[in-house]
Amino acid sequence: MALWGSRWRKSLEEVVEDFTYSLYFDKRLWKVDLLGTLAHVVMLNKIGIISQEELAVLKDEIKNLYLEISNNPDLIRDSEDIHTFVEESLTKRIGDIGKKIHTGRSRNDQVILDLRLYLREETCDIAELLINLRKVLLELSKKFISTPMPGYTHLQQAQPVTLSHYFLAYDAMFSRDLQRLEDIYKRVDVLPLGSGALAGSTIPLDREYTAELLNFSKISDNSMDAVSDRDFVLEFLFFSALTYNHLSRLAEEIILWATKEFSFVKLPEEYSTGSSMMPQKRNPDVAELTRGKCGKLIGNLVNMFTIMKGLPLSYNRDLQEDKPSLFSSIDELKIALRVWIGFLPKIEFDTERMYKLSSEDFLFATDIAEYLVLKGVPFREAHKIVGEVVRFCEENNKKFRELSLEEWRGFSELFDRDIFDLLNPESSLNLKKTYGSPNPVINKDVIKKREEELRNIIDRWHKLKSSLPDLMRLLDKV
Ligand code: ARG
Repeated sequence: MALWGSRWRKSLEEVVEDFTYSLYFDKRLWKVDLLGTLAHVVMLNKIGIISQEELAVLKDEIKNLYLEISNNPDLIRDSEDIHTFVEESLTKRIGDIGKKIHTGRSRNDQVILDLRLYLREETCDIAELLINLRKVLLELSKKFISTPMPGYTHLQQAQPVTLSHYFLAYDAMFSRDLQRLEDIYKRVDVLPLGSGALAGSTIPLDREYTAELLNFSKISDNSMDAVSDRDFVLEFLFFSALTYNHLSRLAEEIILWATKEFSFVKLPEEYSTGSSMMPQKRNPDVAELTRGKCGKLIGNLVNMFTIMKGLPLSYNRDLQEDKPSLFSSIDELKIALRVWIGFLPKIEFDTERMYKLSSEDFLFATDIAEYLVLKGVPFREAHKIVGEVVRFCEENNKKFRELSLEEWRGFSELFDRDIFDLLNPESSLNLKKTYGSPNPVINKDVIKKREEELRNIIDRWHKLKSSLPDLMRLLDKV
């Protein structure tokens, strides 16, 4: 018999049951559903709806069910969704007392409570993974602080940078991702329970108390919004699509660098695959799959927007479809982060080749133009002069460093012997004055600041994680 029982004479067509069934994906909410149920019945006891004896029975059975499912997750079956399963299982065990569980509660506020409880835990785990990835990137940026390599725009060699600068660029992206996650957490951390189906309850539910038991910082203040708000899901899906996009860009970098043509990296065997036909191959499948799977996370975001667009207040069954997208993005992001945390430190970088390519003469053309600027030449003029030197070199098949001082002076009287000191990547990097440039001295400072920032982030997430409620602890406490 379905939950709405008495008014119905006919049971659902089988095909409709299959169509509406969500247990197969929402069963992962079982722990948080039990936790939310526990808090709810404890609150019902406080306001006199459930007696002390009834609460004791309920607590025992919640605990038993928790332990049994922990031992055998296959117990979760046969119900329409996880909320129905939990309520039915408890009622089956304790009879009439079980019938009080759903007092003042609807699956509409229950499902969104579960999702918020679940996402609070998941964001803590994801934050930890992102922190670990950042630690890896910061370690690599320290290791290669003075390793020159060519930097690119339009995928054309542009100016020398360092390998460290590359890692710090990716670290900057993941740092913003962590900031976003912290911000999203604030909007996940709101208790919706007590909103009922859409219009609250005539029973004086003590929502502040439920929030306290479950450690929510806030309670929602509009029951219709509470049951239909999925903004935090959208925000999380955006966050995960963007974070994955950063991984995907990094993946593309590695794929290029692993080509024979670039030959900047050698991939670790544990993280690459061979070809079934071509014995010489070592393929960057991990990076390619990262690039390939990214589309799914973007799709999940678009899917959720499509569900929400034009949805009238308040709860509509469409909202059940929020979960497959959300769970898919969580799972894909977590495994990808784990992969890259292991993968990056094992990649071998051919720093000699990077050095050699970053010593290519023309990469210093901008530095030479700036050399003239510092001697008083307007930049456009300096750009033109160096352009002429480049053309001369190309036409005469010469390199900058093969020109004599007289030849340089032919282009501008301001060229002096010190021009020859400019033509190597170290000078190019060390002469950089601007904050945020690849100058190793500046980057050492940047790394220090990022490490300090990361320590604070770790502290904050640690506090959030340790404030999360736990079913066993709550059982002991109440
Ligand atoms: N399985 C449903 C969901 O995920 C639970 C809420 C059902 N509410 C309802 N009024 N049918 O959204």
